[in-house]
Amino acid sequence: MSVEKKDLDWGNLDFSYRKTDYSYVSNYKDGAWDEGCLTADHTIQMSECAGILHYCQEVFEGLKAYTTADGSVVCFRPDMNAQRMADSAARLVMPQFPIERFVDAVKQVVQANLAWVPPHGSGATLYIRPLMFATGDVIGVKPATEYQFRILVTPVGPYFKGGDTAVKLCVSPYDRAAPHGTGNIKAGLNYAMSLKAVTEAHANGYAENLYLDSESRTYVEETGGANVLFVAKDGTLVVPQSHTDSILPSITRRSLVQVAQDLGIAVDERPVEWAEVKSGAFTECGLCGTAAVISPVGEIHEGEDVVVFPAGHETSGPVMAKLRSTLTGIQSGELEDTHGWVCKIC
Ligand code: PLP
Ligand code: COI
Repeated sequence: MSVEKKDLDWGNLDFSYRKTDYSYVSNYKDGAWDEGCLTADHTIQMSECAGILHYCQEVFEGLKAYTTADGSVVCFRPDMNAQRMADSAARLVMPQFPIERFVDAVKQVVQANLAWVPPHGSGATLYIRPLMFATGDVIGVKPATEYQFRILVTPVGPYFKGGDTAVKLCVSPYDRAAPHGTGNIKAGLNYAMSLKAVTEAHANGYAENLYLDSESRTYVEETGGANVLFVAKDGTLVVPQSHTDSILPSITRRSLVQVAQDLGIAVDERPVEWAEVKSGAFTECGLCGTAAVISPVGEIHEGEDVVVFPAGHETSGPVMAKLRSTLTGIQSGELEDTHGWVCKIC
């Protein structure tokens, strides 16, 4: 089906919100979700006593729709986002939105906004943001009994300005997630706590914070909005793991581990000490996530200390570039999808 696209400067979009035509909404009451529908109303009216406003019961997701080389519109592993949202909801004692309904709702809302799906090759995508929050009244600290699940979509360009231009990180003086807390789920509360840290990092000229584990401040965890990957001198892809369950299980990262294995790149998933990074053990570093895709990191600063990644100092180094082109090739239909990750919408 061909749809007349909106008149946007697709190649120059940044990562910001632009209202589209429809969102998807479903409400949970008396122990059940209603049947859900598309809505052109992008506002929400709720009680001043809603659980989200007091005790922050909210979880969200992020995925993208792409126009492929043959003009189809697809998204990437939406079942994984559905499962992660269910896991996040369980941790905050919220009801789970069924996996198959989540995937169906993603398809419905993208299809309703086809005019906003950026054209193939523009570098832009349609960002899909499912969210769920407590609408029911609570005044004592307890889970609410009513919730809303929603999906908004908005066309976006690269998360970091310059796309494949290497960014600088700083080691954050703040912690992101408590050991065995909520760092491994996608809940708004984790991002509220990161706002002061990221505002200061930006003011100091850094694109993002690198967080160390808050238990020992010894191990590398992740950044505010993406997982971290390193490449060792022998070409191995090194993927930081957490002893304390405080890294978000990135779908991009888990896909890249598989892509690396498919490409014959050795993968080592293990805790990574910050001291090892400082010792110059790694030649490349990258941030991976739906928004970040894989963004090269050129330097990480900690006070006066600077760690430089020589093979990826200006743009992606060879390993990150290969991973990036393979993943984006699969997502845009230019490379074969051998794992059945691409979900056709229309
Ligand atoms: N880590 C954090 C804290 C994030 O917010 C995100 C974004 O979703 C990621 C990692 C990357 O996860 P994914 O690849 O599933 O988008
Ligand atoms: C995503 O990558 O989808 C995210 O949710 C990260 C967010 C910081 C934009």
